[in-house]
Amino acid sequence: MSNLSQRQQKLLSMIEQKLAQLLPEENELYQPLLDSMGYSLLDGGKRIRPLLTLEFCALCGGEPENALPFGCALEMIHTYSLIHDDLPCMDDDDMRRGRPSNHKAYGEATALLAGDALQALAFAVMLSESSVEKVGAERAVQAAHCLATAAGASGMVGGQVIDLSSEGKKVSVGVLRQMDALKTGALISAACQMGCILGGGTKAQLKAAQRFASNIGLAFQIVDDILDVTSTTEELGKQVGSDRANEKSTYVSELGLEQAKVLSAQLTREAIAALEIFPSGEVKDDVVALAQYLAVRKK
Ligand code: IPE
Ligand code: IPE
Ligand code: MG
Ligand code: MG
Ligand code: MG
Repeated sequence: MSNLSQRQQKLLSMIEQKLAQLLPEENELYQPLLDSMGYSLLDGGKRIRPLLTLEFCALCGGEPENALPFGCALEMIHTYSLIHDDLPCMDDDDMRRGRPSNHKAYGEATALLAGDALQALAFAVMLSESSVEKVGAERAVQAAHCLATAAGASGMVGGQVIDLSSEGKKVSVGVLRQMDALKTGALISAACQMGCILGGGTKAQLKAAQRFASNIGLAFQIVDDILDVTSTTEELGKQVGSDRANEKSTYVSELGLEQAKVLSAQLTREAIAALEIFPSGEVKDDVVALAQYLAVRKK
């Protein structure tokens, strides 16, 4: 991430600080739960989703700081999805972001509950008095509704179900596309849409953001699948070869590595083309650079 602009580095450190502030206060009766939540929330993810929320708010002329609690809420939902994704009943992965996955450190029951609590915290944060005060009740409710829809059965959770039910099977590219659009695309799309909502974007800007997000979201999962094959566990911070071990259906397994690479590059170009409607300037240049970075990222 060190190749991102200073402006974006600043946004990233705002996100880190805010996430740490938003964790519940210590409580000796259920402290292991709080430790487990903090372990996964503050352990050095890339923070792509909250960054996109702040950037799309800025692209629509809003103050990125006002979108900060909403971006952090999205990161909480994403973190919960990763904790559950690693559980033995799902991908059964022992490593995440360079250290033991949550259930390896805290046990399955606490990991499950930490995910549950992070999801609830996300909504408490978005609908708190201080978050609503900054953007107004109407936009706060719209953004929270957007995230709730993206996280649930017709979004991330639905995609995870397609992923699990596709293990060990040959699936069509159409099914793969739907699976990735839901399990990964939905939250990335919510990130961009929430930014537009909070920044007061026009209908046309919201539509452009959706187009950007659906392309970048699919590219993001394809690159994740590519890295599972081409990277090392040390560099990636999670076990490589996990998809093959679980007989996952991915763009790499179905189309081959080279085709997957071509497709992710093409989707990235299409995502960037969708930004045309937004005003030229530093913010847009940074979003273009971010999209390009995501396509060539190493982790
Ligand atoms: C990993 O997401 C899971 C996918 C949806 C591909 P990220 O690659 O954003 O994970 P972190 O948050 O940076 O660890
Ligand atoms: C995860 O997809 C998508 C989620 C909703 C968590 P993966 O299972 O490929 O993510 P990693 O590779 O474990 O991070
Ligand atoms: Mg998975
Ligand atoms: Mg996984
Ligand atoms: Mg993966």
